Amino acid sequence: MLFYLPERLNIAVFASGRGSNLRSIVDALHAGILSNVTISLVLSNNGKSGALEFARQNNIPAIHLSRVQFHSDAEFTSAMLETLRRHSINFIVLAGYMKKLDPLVIDSFRNRIINIHPALLPAFGGTGMFGMKVHEAVIASRATKSGATVHVVDEDYDHGPIVLQEQVEVSPSDTAETLAEKVLAIEHRLYPKALSLFAMGKIRVKGQQVVIDTK
Ligand code: GRF
Repeated sequence: MLFYLPERLNIAVFASGRGSNLRSIVDALHAGILSNVTISLVLSNNGKSGALEFARQNNIPAIHLSRVQFHSDAEFTSAMLETLRRHSINFIVLAGYMKKLDPLVIDSFRNRIINIHPALLPAFGGTGMFGMKVHEAVIASRATKSGATVHVVDEDYDHGPIVLQEQVEVSPSDTAETLAEKVLAIEHRLYPKALSLFAMGKIRVKGQQVVIDTK
């Protein structure tokens, strides 16, 4: 009997910083809890990022592509699209990528770009909500819960349809730093899990809605 096999995901991981989420995806592949995925490219706008260094050490194609290398936004975007095409990328995973994607890139990969955010969106998301600022805002608000969100990327910051969320208690003794650690531990489980759902063909995006096939 023939079973439907979803298309293999040739992913590009976009990362600007230390790259711990990239590592968690590589770890999940090695552990066999994520399959039907190849990391075909790591792309960073930061030549000194831990993500690029990790990719090079692990023989993953790694490219530093930054706006300052080009004369215009249009040239930068077309270089990005050409790089993605050259590496046969069919899915993009944003893992701490600090630059807004051009609408042309989003449109070329419609519903095939995901992002992870270190809070329970739609709370504590949007412009200016990145890194420790998110956790500082959660602590300042005295929220009792935070967590991580994986969502499909659209043209607005931290806005597209939500794929998965996981919560964590914020205890009265938590600081932004301790909360960041707790949330990051969740991220490292949640991102491979979300990616796996896409790789197994279990996700359908209908407008602002993500439908997960639970069969
Ligand atoms: C993570 O907290 C992620 O939620 C946010 O950026 C951070 C990236 O961390 N989008 P790392 O570079 O993967 O360690």
